[in-house]
Amino acid sequence: MKKIKVFDTTLRDGEQAPGCSMVFKEKIELALALEKLGVDIMEAGFAIASPGDFESVSAISGIIKNSSVASLARATRKDIDVAYDAVKSAVAPRIHTFLATSPTHMEYKLRMTPSQVLETIGDMVAYAKSKLSDVEFSAEDATRSDPAFLAKAVKAAVDAGATTINIPDTVGYSVPAEMTELLEFLYANVDNLDKVTLSVHCHNDLGMGVANTLAAIQAGATQIETTVCGLGERAGNAAMEEVIMALNTRRDRFPYETNIVTSRIFPVSRLIYSIVGMTAPLNKPIVGANAFAHEAGIHQHGVLAKRQTYEIMMPESIGLTTNKMVLGKHSGKHAVEDRLKDLGYTISKEEMDDLFGRFKALSDRKKAITDGDLEALVLHRIHMNGAAWKLDRFTVNSGNYVACSAVVRMSHEDELIEKVALGDGPIDAAFNAVDKIMRVPEHRLEDYSVQTISEGNDAQGEAIVKLSSGGNTATGRGLSTDVVEASILAYINGMNKLL
Ligand code: KIV
Ligand code: ZN
Repeated sequence: MKKIKVFDTTLRDGEQAPGCSMVFKEKIELALALEKLGVDIMEAGFAIASPGDFESVSAISGIIKNSSVASLARATRKDIDVAYDAVKSAVAPRIHTFLATSPTHMEYKLRMTPSQVLETIGDMVAYAKSKLSDVEFSAEDATRSDPAFLAKAVKAAVDAGATTINIPDTVGYSVPAEMTELLEFLYANVDNLDKVTLSVHCHNDLGMGVANTLAAIQAGATQIETTVCGLGERAGNAAMEEVIMALNTRRDRFPYETNIVTSRIFPVSRLIYSIVGMTAPLNKPIVGANAFAHEAGIHQHGVLAKRQTYEIMMPESIGLTTNKMVLGKHSGKHAVEDRLKDLGYTISKEEMDDLFGRFKALSDRKKAITDGDLEALVLHRIHMNGAAWKLDRFTVNSGNYVACSAVVRMSHEDELIEKVALGDGPIDAAFNAVDKIMRVPEHRLEDYSVQTISEGNDAQGEAIVKLSSGGNTATGRGLSTDVVEASILAYINGMNKLL
């Protein structure tokens, strides 16, 4: 079967989506999860965008062993130099340079003539090639470009040594039949295109990112650029899990293979949603809570009689476990470690000590610890570790005929600080008390939500807050069987990030 390479751009295009920015630790955690997922190439970021981006691309390059690591670069020497510096320590580094080829982008954004664009592509691909052997060129807005001109641009990049040519549907404008025609046209009109990897990068503005990606594979593309859960600019990019499960479920139509370990799909989707502070829409294909749920009696009856009546995929194939009630108060460290291994997590010894402490604390409050609970504890370790300000204890007084008040005590280095505040409800009062302690200048609470992690009265709640201050935004998360505590933890986590 023909092999399709998966180029993941969650850390770059995904991170560019509004409200989806990630901090260093989160990027590292995600990069490790993407490596385990089996992506062939991960675009770790846009190294020149900021010192923070450079730092995370270099760090990821230093730790990832089984995937190529790419940095995006505009078609300029400076961008390419910085991208090269950021990825040069990777086992398999790649420079991904791009320039727009559509009339609108060339005239209004680049202010370049078509011949200047062709010359720049040749020069900058050759420059990147002088630094690294693995060079990808993207013709930004390719699907709104004149196909004949696009063919010249692609030829310039191939002649200059690009090893991958990417055809982005930058604004999600294409439809599947058009994508097929465009790729067939390029294969027919660009010499040696069959000697390099042809890739597509489809945005989802008209909801066709996945369909266009599949059409491109059938037309000969051997690399696809996707993001986990379709995160990305505007309506996002083609969702990796949807493309992969379409390929796997419809092998009759798609006789292609990838290196994706499908049982890692669900855990990685949980990780990414937890990092960006979003939840999957209930009806999200593959990873939404309803994707494998059957409510209507007639469906339940059918599935019980024969699963295939209403299920086209096995929940286990994406890593959804059915084994839910496994651990409790009397479970030892080994049992917890083993269950985490089954779920695909490798935890260092120090992290395991901390995690087991939190597992014990949870099992005092909650009878049965589900896989969801355990995963939530693991995911939350990246949000909690190394915080400057910590919650020590709190009390809230709330009722429908009294003013709500909260007393919060927090630790900072060796100091304990306690404040009391009133508020419009217990959460508001508690947040006001934290404000008095942490004194973050001019911040705003943009969004706040709480969701349950597992079932039952003693379920853990995960609170998510979005905060902003002076043009910066931060997502904070907190986990507890007590929603007030989860909310205070989330607020403090977000405030620590703003600071
Ligand atoms: O959508 C796009 O065109 C891009 C390129 C930079 C590849 O993200
Ligand atoms: Zn894009």
